[in-house]
Amino acid sequence: TRVAILISGRGSNMVSLIEAAEAPDFPAEIVLVLANRPEAAGLARASAAGIPARAIDHRAYPDRASFDAALQAELAAENIELVCLAGFMRIFTPGFVEAWSGRMLNIHPSLLPLFRGTHTHEQALAAGVRLHGCTVHYVVPELDAGPIVAQAAVPVHPGDDADSLAARVIVEEHRLYPAALALVAGGRARLDEGRVAFDEAVP
Ligand code: GRF
Repeated sequence: TRVAILISGRGSNMVSLIEAAEAPDFPAEIVLVLANRPEAAGLARASAAGIPARAIDHRAYPDRASFDAALQAELAAENIELVCLAGFMRIFTPGFVEAWSGRMLNIHPSLLPLFRGTHTHEQALAAGVRLHGCTVHYVVPELDAGPIVAQAAVPVHPGDDADSLAARVIVEEHRLYPAALALVAGGRARLDEGRVAFDEAVP
């Protein structure tokens, strides 16, 4: 499965996907990294790993539809089959999301459906939950609302602040995203009429 990763920033989840995909038995190949910001630090990390990495600066496009069309052209040119969003901070047009229905994943730093959007660690602390975590889900037009492929939980400790909690969650993100990608790329999880269908062997 030919995979593109879309980033906006440092790209630590991207690195975890690239490293996992280097294993010979991994069912996906990371063949392209795209960023919507030329200054995204992850671009250099992708290049260093030997992955073609380019910026498509959203500020150069007059509207979302033209940016999404440019993205689509790059993905089509590389015969991309599956897209992984990894800290990609741009909302797509519904048309783009529909075009990638069942073939686009995102990682979100909370136990969805709790705490959609940004500042999820602050949201978790404000809510007083004792468990927090991360979710890999299929992307649907509604933000952070897609069918869930995998989740991992971490405890919230007394005295946590957003940074200490984020540090505990990101460790799980780096483990969860490659595992979820392997499930989807390996055909053991798939989107079926708005729900995720799993093989019986998946725990
Ligand atoms: C991660 O916490 C991801 O879940 C969130 O943004 C952060 C991106 O970090 N959507 P990185 O760019 O993967 O290091």
